[in-house]
Amino acid sequence: MKGEYRISELAAQVKLSRTALLYYEKQGLIKGTRRSNGYRVYKDSDVQRVRLLQQLQLGGLTLAECKTCLDAKIDPELLTKRLALLDKEIAQKQQARDLLAALLGNGSLRLWHQTVDTLAPDAHLAWLKQQGFNKKEAFHLKWLSKDMNEHQSYMTDFMKVFEKVELWGPGSKKDSLQAFSLLPKIPTSIIDIGCGKGVSTITLAEHSQAQITAVDNEPNALELLRLRAEKMGLTSRIKIECACMTDLPFSKGRFDLVWAEGAAYIMGVERALKQWTSLLEKDGMMVISDLVWLTDRPTQELKDFWKGEYQDMQTVATRIAQINQAGFELLSHFTLSRQAWEDYYLPLKVALAEVYLEIPDSAALNAMSREMAIYDQYLGQFGYEMFILRKR
Ligand SMILES: C[S@@+](CC[C@H](N)C(=O)[O-])C[C@H]1O[C@@H](n2cnc3c(N)ncnc32)[C@H](O)[C@@H]1O
Repeated sequence: MKGEYRISELAAQVKLSRTALLYYEKQGLIKGTRRSNGYRVYKDSDVQRVRLLQQLQLGGLTLAECKTCLDAKIDPELLTKRLALLDKEIAQKQQARDLLAALLGNGSLRLWHQTVDTLAPDAHLAWLKQQGFNKKEAFHLKWLSKDMNEHQSYMTDFMKVFEKVELWGPGSKKDSLQAFSLLPKIPTSIIDIGCGKGVSTITLAEHSQAQITAVDNEPNALELLRLRAEKMGLTSRIKIECACMTDLPFSKGRFDLVWAEGAAYIMGVERALKQWTSLLEKDGMMVISDLVWLTDRPTQELKDFWKGEYQDMQTVATRIAQINQAGFELLSHFTLSRQAWEDYYLPLKVALAEVYLEIPDSAALNAMSREMAIYDQYLGQFGYEMFILRKR
């Protein structure tokens, strides 16, 4: 009969399966009439009701919600809830889209790298290597550029500033010598790890008769140290080695003093203590400096800043506990002087201003400038601590 449809015909009209329509029927959304021949038939009104329902479903409503809207006036509360849910889903999808685009080279990966590095630091480094970054680049990415898409240009700009300055971290001759004077015995074989251009290496060479191995993974900095050692007649006592601090090519117990100013953080202080101890002979000594909290209640802005720059920053007490845990005896410790900071960052500020003239819009320069502002404003709430240790 015209205007009557068997379930398969209704299914064809509304492009749904028979099973779906039977389910609709069970939910009371359509209602067939059983004919005497046993067939269930549906009317035009059922076709239209399903079509109206389908249009409501386009709003992301569930079947039950559609039914509520069909049977009564629209419920604004219900729709508002669904709208909020959709907004949330859209935001999640947008985030997913942004990440995929960024992984394809379009957009910032800074926050993503930071999160991955917090959750899975070793896997992150290994993954970066898989993406074609060598170990040195992977460390630079972790600590400096923080975004694989901008890495190359960031490092080029960064180096333009740093090649102009001597010190690559807070430190001064006076502080180095103070730490040296606190050693319980005169060292004869020193390794200076992360020596940069070798400011501390030269100080150690001038104030001891020790053989010194200066290690860094930056060949240009090492070349400057080589030239300076040559000029000062120190080449017989300063051996230069371009190597990664996580993979040092020296035999066990080879040194009686490990020296690392502002460098242990690169591989993580706890890991450095654990690994570098094997370089030392029995009763060997270690001097490391590290950025620490000098207050239990840092300003929120400062907390946020270092959370992004040095997540593993600790109080002196926590570092001391870790030092003990790693099998070292703490002989002494002191906070680096204001001079140590100024020796480092005042020349850096001058260099930064010079390079800004050349490249005014650089992420690397902006990051350095922000860090300088943090030093200016908050130094004292944080500082560098020098730790003088002996292997137990
Ligand atoms: C904050 S700077 C301190 C440099 C130097 N001690 C000074 O005070 O001038 C850290 C140094 O570690 C070096 N470095 C970074 N990653 C390294 C790695 N994986 N192995 C060896 N040296 C590394 C850098 O090239 C840089 O010279």
